[in-house]
Amino acid sequence: MKFYNGLVALLAVVVSGVDSNLEVTTDPNATAFRGGSITLTCRFIGEPFAIYWYKHNRTGAPDNTADIVVRYFNGQWLSSDKYPRYNITSDYSMVISDVQIEDEETYSCEVVLKDDASGKNNTDLTVIALANPLHPVVSGCIMTKPRECVYEVQGADTEIFALRCRVEQVRPAVSLSWTTRRDVEIETPTIPVTDPKDGLFNATRDLTVSRTEIENGESFVCQASGDSVNGTSKLVVTFKYPSEGGLSGGGKAGIVIFVLIVVAIGIGIGIGFFLWRRKEEEKKKEQEKDPEKEPLSPLQIEFEDLAKKINGYTRGPFLGWR
Ligand SMILES: *[C@@H]1O[C@H](CO)[C@@H](O)[C@H](O)[C@H]1NC(C)=O
Ligand SMILES: *[C@@H]1O[C@H](CO)[C@@H](O)[C@H](O)[C@H]1NC(C)=O
Ligand SMILES: *[C@@H]1O[C@H](CO)[C@@H](O)[C@H](O)[C@H]1NC(C)=O
Ligand SMILES: *[C@@H]1O[C@H](CO)[C@@H](O)[C@H](O)[C@H]1NC(C)=O
Ligand SMILES: *[C@@H]1O[C@H](CO)[C@@H](O)[C@H](O)[C@H]1NC(C)=O
Ligand SMILES: *[C@@H]1O[C@H](CO)[C@@H](O)[C@H](O)[C@H]1NC(C)=O
Repeated sequence: MKFYNGLVALLAVVVSGVDSNLEVTTDPNATAFRGGSITLTCRFIGEPFAIYWYKHNRTGAPDNTADIVVRYFNGQWLSSDKYPRYNITSDYSMVISDVQIEDEETYSCEVVLKDDASGKNNTDLTVIALANPLHPVVSGCIMTKPRECVYEVQGADTEIFALRCRVEQVRPAVSLSWTTRRDVEIETPTIPVTDPKDGLFNATRDLTVSRTEIENGESFVCQASGDSVNGTSKLVVTFKYPSEGGLSGGGKAGIVIFVLIVVAIGIGIGIGFFLWRRKEEEKKKEQEKDPEKEPLSPLQIEFEDLAKKINGYTRGPFLGWR
């Protein structure tokens, strides 16, 4: 199979080297979403003998280091075990399924006609990794509506604190900005986007807010723009104080009361048990004492006397039998 592949590639190179007079049309650029699929088309006029789809080693232009990923050859459509996500259709388009970041390359389609005319053209594929969720996320802010969240100001938040807006694991990078609800852009330091090895970007932008602003009813909007959020995408942040919120305050009071009741019941059970045990012990003690206290019966007195007499008996002279 390997030999066959090599032979086909060699034949292709030889053929295309010999005659390159056929017009082959491809889309110069194509865009795919990560995880989705994309069809790259290859158009020409004539009866094909062979079609080769190459995956090049870089984006931007075809280079000489390219693998044949799928092909049509003399009536047969052939895909490769090395590229299981790539396939060739009946109209010689190439389909890439479950698109990955590393599929962002230049692809070229080479056509060899039965009359030996041949031609080649290429497509640059761009892969977009969409943000998930598609809107920015603010740490500690609870989503209430599709594009709105509520940030509960914590006791630990000082007079001035930071809101952190993020869009993670996307490609290409997004730009982030903070605005007031009236669309006034606020100057904030931009934390540079990082490009890790996996080709994905994280974007972070902090906003410093003061309690005074919030108390005046201000709310803020973090906006992301870029292909990976499908244009522009916003998150509206509103604020809430734990003390002012009736529900939250009531909830906390409820918890305190519940705990107090549980503690009271616990103490009650403890005292009850203590009293019960003391009573039980007293009863037991009395039962142990009772036999000593009980007055002696007349028979017992007689017996005791007799015992004393016997004890006190001394042997006197024998006066009997006379
Ligand atoms: C490649 O395709 C484009 C159309 O997308 C066409 O304008 C161009 O002439 C083609 N190049 C060759 C060498 O066939
Ligand atoms: C294709 O994309 C490249 C890079 O993104 C760009 O420079 C070029 O102008 C695009 N070509 C067309 C025909 O859209
Ligand atoms: C791409 O090509 C360069 C030089 O042509 C080579 O060093 C590199 O290993 C190639 N990378 C891949 C993934 O084939
Ligand atoms: C390629 O597509 C054909 C039908 O178009 C299908 O029969 C074949 O199983 C596919 N090959 C792969 C590797 O998915
Ligand atoms: C981007 O964010 C993700 C998720 O929080 C994290 O796993 C990844 O390491 C981050 N990348 C960089 C370069 O900071
Ligand atoms: C992106 O926006 C377009 C309209 O601009 C819309 O048709 C499409 O469904 C959106 N895609 C996603 C993933 O939301």
